[in-house]
Amino acid sequence: MAKNNNKFPKNVGIIMDGNGRWALKNSLQVSQGHKKGVDTVREIVEVSVEKKIKSLTLYAFSSENWQRPKSEINAIKNLVIDAINDQVPELKEQRVQLKFFGHLEEFGNKVINKIKYAESETNFEDPKLNLNIALSYGGQQDILDIVKGIAADVLDKKINLKDIDQKIISEFSCAPVESIDLLIRTGGDKRVSNFLLYQIAYAEIMFIDKFWPDFKKTDFIECLNNFKKVSRRFGKRL
Ligand code: IPE
Ligand code: IPE
Ligand code: MG
Repeated sequence: MAKNNNKFPKNVGIIMDGNGRWALKNSLQVSQGHKKGVDTVREIVEVSVEKKIKSLTLYAFSSENWQRPKSEINAIKNLVIDAINDQVPELKEQRVQLKFFGHLEEFGNKVINKIKYAESETNFEDPKLNLNIALSYGGQQDILDIVKGIAADVLDKKINLKDIDQKIISEFSCAPVESIDLLIRTGGDKRVSNFLLYQIAYAEIMFIDKFWPDFKKTDFIECLNNFKKVSRRFGKRL
């Protein structure tokens, strides 16, 4: 019989969904749901450090989320700034390296400057955890950018057509993670909503019914323990 994998995942990705419905359920504004969601992020980061996860990649705002009401987008922009101000000291203490990726320029200078500050403050040589936050990110847009980037370098003769491989594709992706071992989506929907399409090729995917603000440390630990029980075959006959 195939053996359990028996290890915690190295690279975890999370689609943090359900803030809006959590707010509705609690008769609060959507922005309050997003705010509560930041508290969950803090808890999940703590567990990730404790359990020696290598990287945690969080989907915070998708390319498609620009279609939401202006007021919600503004609340999210302000929340990014507040969360960085609040959490950078704690992240530094825990030796967590922060990186943001996606079309960050769409967020404007105020957010971009805060992101630069957060990244430079947490730029550890030997971080305990890499915390990657996807903002204005879409997997299809990323693939398009990868194709354009590689094509431009081929035209400039910096890359030979025959040398294009999976490693080069990863290098051209804006996502700072090569492959995801465990992908969790909260909020009950069973879809990937354009998150890390290339990198989730062999991810174990767990769909959790709880809304993101209700997702607790114990829920995350349960996911990590369930991951240990999975037999990861990667196409082989074990
Ligand atoms: C996820 O929560 C956070 C973002 C997309 C910014 P939602 O805001 O999508 O929550 P629901 O899905 O409406 O409940
Ligand atoms: C996915 O959630 C994006 C983030 C969690 C940032 P959405 O709420 O935007 O996805 P859909 O609309 O349910 O696919
Ligand atoms: Mg949603």
